[in-house]
Amino acid sequence: MLLFLDTANLDEIREIAEWGVLGGITTNPTLVVKEHQDFKRLVKDICKIVSGPVSAEVTATDTEGMLKEGRDIATWADNVIVKCPLTPAGLAATSALSRDGIKVDVTLCFSVNQAILAARAGAYFVSPFVGRLDDINEDGCALVEHIVEVFHIQGYETQVLAASLRGPQHVTRCATAGAHCATMPYKVFKMLVSHPLTDSGLERFLEDWKSAKSGVAAKG
Ligand code: G3P
Repeated sequence: MLLFLDTANLDEIREIAEWGVLGGITTNPTLVVKEHQDFKRLVKDICKIVSGPVSAEVTATDTEGMLKEGRDIATWADNVIVKCPLTPAGLAATSALSRDGIKVDVTLCFSVNQAILAARAGAYFVSPFVGRLDDINEDGCALVEHIVEVFHIQGYETQVLAASLRGPQHVTRCATAGAHCATMPYKVFKMLVSHPLTDSGLERFLEDWKSAKSGVAAKG
């Protein structure tokens, strides 16, 4: 499972990119406006830092508008992915863009049938929103499991990009389900690496190392 950052913040992206484990970036209009920068400039800058897929979402709600925006976005960088919402207009735009060889991430997916439609439209990614389903007392990770199973049975090539992940448990469950990618905020990405026993264990190793070294120095 590839690990994506769900952010448009360049500092966050640079920091995690240094770990060498960053699979890609997802953005959405909410994340982009937080950065107070020109959309195109920002996406191009992100695409220079990360070699994996970087999604940029259309904001038109009609098919023609999505196609115009999507075709423009697709020229911004080799690794940019056009994001379209899971609406009838979004599906029509996805079908047309995919036929033109443009990679599309169909976003705001909340059911297996919506995911099937995205796959049939030729989406490169479909993004089920885990946390937002949990918010309404449903099991978002169960949806990811179900979509992965159906796509396997049906032989769909569309990749499942688990989104709206709110904590490390979501990441583990999505990996167990067989999701192809998981996108998460910076805070959650940082939580993946931390463990108090790693910190205390390292502290102990270094203390032992230091006292052995000072013992050797005292003897010599
Ligand atoms: O990738 C989708 C994500 O940006 C939505 O996350 O936490 O706003 O539901 P959230």
